[in-house]
Amino acid sequence: MKSFNKYEQQILKQIISARRDVRGNHFIQKEIPKEILEELLSSANNAPSVGFSQPWRFVIIQSKEIRGEIYTEFEKQNTKAKKIFSSNEQYCKLKLEGIKEASLNIAVLYQKPKKEILGQTIQKKMGEYSVVCAIQNFWLTARAYDIGVGWVSILNPKKVKKILDISKEYKLVGYLCVGYVDEFLSAPELETIGWEEKKSLEKVVRWV
Ligand SMILES: Cc1cc2nc3c(=O)[nH]c(=O)nc-3n(C[C@H](O)[C@H](O)[C@H](O)COP(=O)(O)O)c2cc1C
Repeated sequence: MKSFNKYEQQILKQIISARRDVRGNHFIQKEIPKEILEELLSSANNAPSVGFSQPWRFVIIQSKEIRGEIYTEFEKQNTKAKKIFSSNEQYCKLKLEGIKEASLNIAVLYQKPKKEILGQTIQKKMGEYSVVCAIQNFWLTARAYDIGVGWVSILNPKKVKKILDISKEYKLVGYLCVGYVDEFLSAPELETIGWEEKKSLEKVVRWV
């Protein structure tokens, strides 16, 4: 059995707490070497999945033209979101994506199963949750390589799928902006500006 020593345990803890969501005001112009991108994807591909279904698929988007289309879709959805948050002037000041500034974008898809999946007979969303596990593996490994990841959810999945010419067999789970950064903020930006408070363990854990 492989055991990890205290030092290694601390490293993992540090990577987890140093991970941040990175937006376009922090991405820099520096290409990600292919072998490093493959390391991150390989980590994602080692995530746990319901019934070992490994239902994640990754579309690597380099094309500036496609990213331009995605950005237009973001702007459209964010204009609607600004109305929803109109009572809070902070919202408009927030940079909430890095679609154009990041080295590349990745659409993370869930491939709908063609057969019954062990463990997914009653809880049909388990496959999609497995894809989220893959995204988290990717995100943490990226941080270990000083690469930032920003998850953009202010997008209509149907529109994104259309732009990327993705068939009905797939569902969009995550849209990521990925690239080297000038800095990783020391705390979540939404905590720093007072949008949300960090929840204590006592608040999120219940013992019965
Ligand atoms: C599912 C998911 C969707 C998110 N969508 C967005 C988004 O659309 N735009 C954005 O700026 N941040 C987005 N975030 C980032 C969160 O705001 C961020 O994770 C949170 O504020 C904590 O900050 P940290 O990740 O830097 O620790 C998303 C995060 C998750 C997990």
